[in-house]
Amino acid sequence: MEGTVATRPTPVLSADPDAIATAIRCLAAGGLVAFPTETVYGLGTDATNGDAVARLYLAKGRPSFNPLIAHIADLAAARRLGQFDAAAARLASAFWPGPLTLVVPRLPGCGVAELATAGLETIALRVPDHPVAQAVLVAFGRPVVAPSANRSGHVSPTTAAHVLADLGGRIDLIIDGGPTPIGVESAIVACVGGTPQLLRPGGVAREEIERTLGHAVARTQAPIPSGDEAPLAPGLLASHYAPHSALRLGVKRVRPGEALLAFGSALPEGAGTAAAVLNLSEDGNLIEAAANLFAYLRALDACDAKTIAVMPVPDEGLGAAINDRLKRAAAPR
Ligand code: TXA
Ligand code: MG
Repeated sequence: MEGTVATRPTPVLSADPDAIATAIRCLAAGGLVAFPTETVYGLGTDATNGDAVARLYLAKGRPSFNPLIAHIADLAAARRLGQFDAAAARLASAFWPGPLTLVVPRLPGCGVAELATAGLETIALRVPDHPVAQAVLVAFGRPVVAPSANRSGHVSPTTAAHVLADLGGRIDLIIDGGPTPIGVESAIVACVGGTPQLLRPGGVAREEIERTLGHAVARTQAPIPSGDEAPLAPGLLASHYAPHSALRLGVKRVRPGEALLAFGSALPEGAGTAAAVLNLSEDGNLIEAAANLFAYLRALDACDAKTIAVMPVPDEGLGAAINDRLKRAAAPR
C-alpha cells in the first residue's frame, strides 16, 4: 500500500500565481494537491482521472465506499455534472460560491470517475468561495474532487501546517493560503426528488437554508453506524474527526487533569485545575467558535490529557455544525 503513495517530502508553496501554475501542472499529471477553501483545506485531484482518484483514497486512508465532493468554479460547470431541480437551483443561486454542497442526480457521461462517486447515481457538487480554490478551479477547467486534507478519521485541517502534519510525504503539493476563514466543512443538502434533506450541518446554517427554500428540510434520522460498517448515508461514519484524547461533552464541572475546551465567558467549576484551557469564543460568538474548533481540538489533543472536557455550545446557526463534529469526535471507536 505504501509503495503507491508519494514518499518524498511534500513542498509547501505560499499561494501566488507561480504556485497556482505549479498546482495546475501537478493536477494535470494526476497529482494530489492540497489547497485552502473557505471551510477547511481540501486534498484535490482531477475528478476525471480514475487512477488519480484511487491514489487520493489511498493517501487519505479513506474507505472507497465514501464518495467525494466534486468542486467546480461556477454553477454553469456544475450543471454539466448534475441535474438541478428547482430547490437545487434556488440553493445554488443563493449560496454559491460558498460553504454549501449539493447532492443531485449525476448526469450520465459527466466524465467524473465512478470511483469518485463510489458507484452512486448521485454526485456531490460544491463551488467554493476562496480566492485560491477559485484560481485553481478556473485555471484547471475540470472538476476537482477534494475531501478534507486529513488522514481519514482525523480532525479536518484549517491551516497548511495541519495538512503537512497529517499528509506530508503522502501527497505532491500543499498550497498555503493561510488559515481557512469558516473552519467547519460545508453543509450538505441532497436534492434528489422530494423534500431536500440536510445530510451534514455545516458552514451555511440550516435556518438560512430553510429561509431560502421557504420550508423545512428533512434531517438525517438514520442511526450513525460505527466506522467499520458501510454507512447508511455515506459520510456518516460515527467516529470521525477523532482526536487521540477522549472527549466529554456538555461539561458543567471539570474533573482534575482534564483539558478544557471552553465556550463563552462563564467558565465551569473546576476550570482552574484544568491541564490546559482554550476558549472557542469568549464572547459566545458561534462564527468565531467554528473557525477555532479544529485547531483547538488539535492543540488540546497535543497536550496529552486523557480527556478533553467540552462546554455546551448552543445548537443554533453554526452551533449545529460544531455540535455535530464534537459528537463524532466523542463517539466510541
Ligand atoms: O467543506 C467541505 O465540504 C470540504 C472542502 C475541502 O470542500 N470537503 C469535505 O469533503 O468536507 P469530505 O470528503 O471530507 O466530506 C464529503 C462528504 C462525505 O461525508 C461524503 O460521504 C459526502 O460528502 N458525500 C459525497 N458524495 C455524496 C453523495 N453522492 N451522496 C451523499 N453524500 C455524499
Ligand atoms: Mg472529511
